[in-house]
Amino acid sequence: IVAFVCNWCSYTAADLAGTARMIQSPNVRLIRMMCTGMVDPKYVIKALLGGADAVLISGCHPGDCHYINGNYKARRRVKLLQEILPRFGFDRRRLKLTWIGASEGGEFADTVNKLVAEIRELGPSEARAMTAV
Ligand code: FES
Repeated sequence: IVAFVCNWCSYTAADLAGTARMIQSPNVRLIRMMCTGMVDPKYVIKALLGGADAVLISGCHPGDCHYINGNYKARRRVKLLQEILPRFGFDRRRLKLTWIGASEGGEFADTVNKLVAEIRELGPSEARAMTAV
């Protein structure tokens, strides 16, 4: 699972979860972005086509974005992406957006664990089936 996380909130929460030794699944690779508003939809499509089983985008709570409205832009893009993912052959549940604040390490660990469980239930990425043919 590829996770694009905002430097100011979710990355800090992930760091907190790690330093507090909270139990979390090791299946997530973090990519630190300055803001979720910088996550280009192409990054998401490329990650999924490249074989990621899911993409998580996580940033500051609404109203807390350090760049004023980047997270609102991310929310709109995610909605559109979830509409078009089936056209690429992907289940829309493979893309998730969450808001996790810097002090919410436990929330980050819970989100990761729940997402990994959901994706395990969903099975491997459709991209693997596409390349197997
Ligand atoms: Fe965190 Fe914009 S700075 S989502």
